[in-house]
Amino acid sequence: MSDKSILLIIGGGIAAYKSLELIRTLAKRGIKSRCVVTKGGQEFVTPLSVSALSGEKCFTDLFDLDDEADMGHIQLSRSTDLVVVCPATADLMAKAANGLANDLASTTLLATDKPVLMVPAMNVRMWGHAATQRNVETLRGDGVTVMEPDEGAMACGEFGPGRLPEPLAIADQIESMLGGSAILYGLERKPLAGRHALITAGPTREPLDPVRFLSNHSSGKQGYAIAGALAKAGAKVTLVSGPVSLAPPEGVEFVPIETARQMLEACEAALPADIFVSVAAVADWRPSRAAAKKMKLKEGDGDPHPTLELSENPDILATLSRKKKMRPELVIGFAAETHEVEALAIAKLKRKRCDWIVANDVSGDVMGGAYNEVALVTRKGIESRWPRMDKIEVAARLVARIAAEFDGDAASQVAAE
Ligand code: CTP
Repeated sequence: MSDKSILLIIGGGIAAYKSLELIRTLAKRGIKSRCVVTKGGQEFVTPLSVSALSGEKCFTDLFDLDDEADMGHIQLSRSTDLVVVCPATADLMAKAANGLANDLASTTLLATDKPVLMVPAMNVRMWGHAATQRNVETLRGDGVTVMEPDEGAMACGEFGPGRLPEPLAIADQIESMLGGSAILYGLERKPLAGRHALITAGPTREPLDPVRFLSNHSSGKQGYAIAGALAKAGAKVTLVSGPVSLAPPEGVEFVPIETARQMLEACEAALPADIFVSVAAVADWRPSRAAAKKMKLKEGDGDPHPTLELSENPDILATLSRKKKMRPELVIGFAAETHEVEALAIAKLKRKRCDWIVANDVSGDVMGGAYNEVALVTRKGIESRWPRMDKIEVAARLVARIAAEFDGDAASQVAAE
């Protein structure tokens, strides 16, 4: 199991039930939750259901002598990597902003030396009230991360900002605060065991003659990281890659290719696959004719000003996602854009008929660099925007999300074995 854990303080609000889903989502990503439920929180979720889901004793009372004997509030607030308040009510935030400490939750918040994340959920007017906004500002000034609530219809019948963000988005925020690389590595169960994942990575090379080619700057780093993370999650991985300077990750079946047409052929030969992740920077065009002999500048039969005629390369992602038979269950494309990143990614998802697009902004130093800043787009729209992070962490996070998608099936497969 990953050694990362959070202390989750569940406040009293109608959204408290979503914290149960959060505990499960985090558990799937290898993050343990130890929980405190406030008095108000207990009106919405029971300590019993919380401890059943978290697999740990649930704490409720500051003056419970047993708890004080084996785990005092000081220790409780420090033997964790991150304190998360979810839902964070107006009352809890007001207490924390003013340093009040009259119950277990507020005492823990005052005593902790760990980073704190607050996930507000409340009525739209309570959220918009000057007192709440003042408290949010104070908390942020004190170094607390306060997520913005979602906007929409509320349980109380009103409309506006104040809804608890989706558990997946909260889990993403928690992961990034914990450092995403902790996730996945050390999962007890291999969530993708029995699954076949096909990945394309790197550039393609389109020959002009025996020594020259058209290509691009793709380093293969992101694709190789995803292939490695999928293998760690238990999948059988086939990595079809253009020429890069990286060694293939351990445990993957490696198929080196050069041209786009070879890449397509290798992918089709590797089917069936459950998951297809198309990370390769495939050259859109190739020289219509590759000269059999090296092209010469002047001497002999050389043309001093040759013109290049180009033909369109096959679109590997679109070809695989349009397959009638043997279409992988989950097809994920990448969209490298320099402007209007998300809008173009949504259009690309539709055009190429894939299930998800990982949209990355390549206007900066992404190509060839170690970092990436991406948004995950599904058929429903933008699911989450991930902060700038290491390509290894992007891979871990994407694979954790893939694992969550397949988890039910994977769990039943494990049970059947
Ligand atoms: N892709 C592919 N085969 C191609 C071109 C692209 O499989 N011949 C895949 C890439 O691996 C990536 C996605 O399609 O997953 C998007 O590629 P990108 O080059 O960003 O988009 P294009 O289709 O080339 O569109 P545009 O150039 O208009 O951005």
